[in-house]
Formats: sequence, structure tokens, C-alpha cells
Amino acid sequence: AKSTIAHLLDQGPQDSEKVVINGFIRSIRNQKQRSFASVGDGSSLEPLQALLTPQQLLGRLSNGTAVRLTGSWKPSPNPRLQSHELHVAEVDVIGYSDPATYPLQKKYQTPEYLRTMPHLRARLPFNSTLLRFRSDAIAAVTSFFHKNGFTQTHTPIITSSDCEGAGEVFRVDISEKELGSKADEGPFFKTPKYLTVSSQLHLEALAQSVGKVWTLSPTFRAEKSDTARHLSEFYMLEAEISFTQDLKEVMGLAEQAVQSIARNLDTAVSRVGKELLQGPVEEVEFKRRVEGMLQPFHRITYTEAIKLLQASTHEFEYAPTWGHGLQAEHERYIAAEVGGKADMSVPVFVTHYPRAIKPFYMLPTANVVDGQETVDCFDLLVPEACEIAGGSMREHQLEPLLKSMQAKSMIPTGPDPSDEDLGELKWYIDLRRWGSVPHGGFGLGFDRLLGYLACTPNIREVVAFPRWVGRCEC
Ligand code: 4AD
Ligand code: MG
Repeated sequence: AKSTIAHLLDQGPQDSEKVVINGFIRSIRNQKQRSFASVGDGSSLEPLQALLTPQQLLGRLSNGTAVRLTGSWKPSPNPRLQSHELHVAEVDVIGYSDPATYPLQKKYQTPEYLRTMPHLRARLPFNSTLLRFRSDAIAAVTSFFHKNGFTQTHTPIITSSDCEGAGEVFRVDISEKELGSKADEGPFFKTPKYLTVSSQLHLEALAQSVGKVWTLSPTFRAEKSDTARHLSEFYMLEAEISFTQDLKEVMGLAEQAVQSIARNLDTAVSRVGKELLQGPVEEVEFKRRVEGMLQPFHRITYTEAIKLLQASTHEFEYAPTWGHGLQAEHERYIAAEVGGKADMSVPVFVTHYPRAIKPFYMLPTANVVDGQETVDCFDLLVPEACEIAGGSMREHQLEPLLKSMQAKSMIPTGPDPSDEDLGELKWYIDLRRWGSVPHGGFGLGFDRLLGYLACTPNIREVVAFPRWVGRCEC
């Protein structure tokens, strides 16, 4: 009977029973009288070993070929590798693959080179394992939020404003000529529109409806940063909760959400085995990261972090100074110094950054210490990936919000601003007029977290079709 490879490997049929499978040939090993093909169909992490005669290969079968194999299920002479193998009687080629031109080679190909063919590299064991890794993580975190009473929502991709105010928005545009507009019709949208940089502002609106919301959405940033941590298109996991006065509650939520993913990957990886972890070093490092993530996270303030950095003998490229953002080198140092232990690496929350370097929507800290104004916010740091999440309490009162926007020159100063003065964020300001409550939330760089947990040195491997500055081919 037709079967999946997972079914055969898990609960194999009787010895010598006739079976039929569909799959893709991953590799072929030739011996004198016979050949072994590794066949995968996506149902299992392990490929199936199929025993073929040279006549059956006949120049028709090579890496990538899609086949239907009929044969009998027999005990393997080498049960250390696999208890049974398929002795093939009949081969049907469903999709031919030309070995002379097939770009995936048996020999080692660098990650950089494989990135030139994202449409093919997903077939490799390492890359397909990452696809599963991601899928498991989504299932785990979806279940976490569902169990905790959150409503999952879909927020818009096309937006009118730049949530973070960092000027990294991609513009959405089509000319009136391309559109075939008549003279009096004007542009498609009346005002400029952008790809979203964050779902936060829309989540804040929905949190006034259902209290606790979350989303896992694509977000876009026109950042030129050509680093192992930056993409132009990435997934952000964001949550927002109403009726909380307490930044600690928001941090606790971020911590639990991250842990729900790490806990699941811990079990996934014992199945995944060697594909993801390519050597003993990675395996040790993987355990450090996953186990560290399951510990209570460290919490220090930005001011304490600056003091730590200034007291360090490490030579930083940028001198750490109160009032400036933390550079990646500073984040790395803090993550290693505060959270790094021999056997595990525990994430570190850094809280209460200076008000001047954070976006307009963050709630100012009630007590100003030494005249240094801060906001109730946090960044979550790990080594390598640096900042994996950021969150804050939100300014929920109308007047202080308007003042904060004025201070950042987002709206004109002076009393009684008109609707026109309030511009594209009028709707967001309006949320403070009708039943506004203390609330807060966070955004987690989903790809950064997965890349960190999977120990891939570059985020571009975690995303099937990565986009970054200068690169978006397929
Ligand atoms: O720190 P960010 O910019 O925060 C926000 O957008 C908030 N509005 C989120 C919220 O409170 N709801 O982005 C959140 C996270 C970062 O911590 C980082 O991990 C990730 O998104 N991130 C990126 N990941 C990959 N490529 C990029 N270019 C990224 N920019 C940010
Ligand atoms: Mg941030």
C-alpha cells in the first residue's frame, strides 16, 4: 500500500511486505552490484534507504529526481543506520532532474553561495530542518497565547505612518500613469503609504477591544545595515495588554512567550539530531542557549548597564555614554557579562532607557533620578543576536501624548491642535479620548530568536527567502 516514509520508519510493516512511496532522491551511493538512494518525502526528518540495481538507475535517477518506488520492506544488514530498507522492484520517474545542470552539489557549498538559490536550498537537510524548526516554534507560541486568553489578530501591512519614527519605511507607490487614472481621479491612496515597520499601534487599538492581543506579522525596514542580524523583511511577534500599570508584567509576558518556544525546540532538536547541529561544538552551544533561555531572565537598568560598560577594561569602538543608544558591541558585552555562564547563556533585560532616544509612544518613568529622564521600556539581549525584543508601557493619556509628539516635532506646538495638525496619527491619538487605560506590549524579532536558538551564524539562513539591502531575487 502507498505509505509515507515517516509511517514506514515509525511503525514499519511486516518484513517483506510490499510498499509504495513517493519522494525525492536526496543522494545516491553506488557500490559494484547495487546502489543506495536516500529518499525523502517531507514526512520525516530521516530519509528512507532504498536499495536499487544499476539497471534501475539507468541514468534516470539522480539527486533531486522525484520518484514513485515500489518494493519490499526488508531488515537492513546494517541496523545501526536504519532497521529496514526498501528493496526496490519498480521505479517510476515522476519528475526528472538533470544531473548535468542541477545546482545543488554533493560537495560543500557555502551558505553565501546557497543564498543565491533560495528556491532550491530549502531541499537540503539543514535548510529543511530550519523550516520545521520555524513551524514548530509558531505552533508552540500560538498555543501559549491561546492558552493565556490572547486573541490573535491580523494587522495591516500597508500603513499611513512610521510607528518607530526612525525613517526606515518603504513607500508603497503606483504612478497614476501605470494605474491608468483619469485626470481628476488622483493617486491610488490620497496620501503616501508605507509597508508597516511594526504592528504595535494597531494592536493598541485592538487591545481596547479584546484586552490581550498578539500577532506574528511581516514587518519591513529600509535599513542599509548589511549585517548577520538585519533583514528588510522579517517577522515580528507582537503582543499588547490592557489594564496593566506594570512594566514587569510586560517583561514577564515576553519572557514566557520566548520560553514557550525554547521549551518546544528542546524536544524538537532531539528529533532533529545531526542535521541542524553540525558538530559537537554546535551541540554544546545549542544546549547553552536553550537551557539559558529556560532560566529566569536577568534584569538590569540602562543606567546600570552604562556603568558596567564604563567600568570594563574592554576597548569599545564607541565609548559608552549615558544618553546614547547601546551599540551592538555594548549589547554583546552586557549579554555575555551579565547573562553568560560556562554552561548556559541567560537572556538579559535592560530597562529604562533615556527618554530622548526612544519613540514618542513610550511612557516616561514616574521618578526621575539625578535629573535623567527615562521611559518604562526594555530591550531583551542575548549574545550574537544582540537585541531580540523590545517593549514598553505606552503613554495612555491624551495631553502627555500630544506633548511627547510635539517634543519630537511630529505635530506642531501650541494649544488646541486641529485634526489636520494631528496628521496621520490622529486615529492613534483618538484612542486616548475614549476609554484609554494603562497598557503595554512588546515586539520580538522572530527570525533573530530562531537564528539564535538554532545557532545559525546568519539570520539569512533562518528565512526561506531572505531580503536585505541590495538582495531580493526570488
Ligand atoms: O525594537 P523594534 O524596532 O520595536 C518595535 O518596532 C516596537 N514597536 C515593538 C513593540 O513594542 N510592539 O523592533 C522589535 C524587534 C527588535 O528587538 C529586533 O529583534 C527585531 O524586531 N528587528 C529586526 N529583525 C530583523 N531585521 C531587522 N531589520 C530588524 N529590526 C528590528
Ligand atoms: Mg528596539
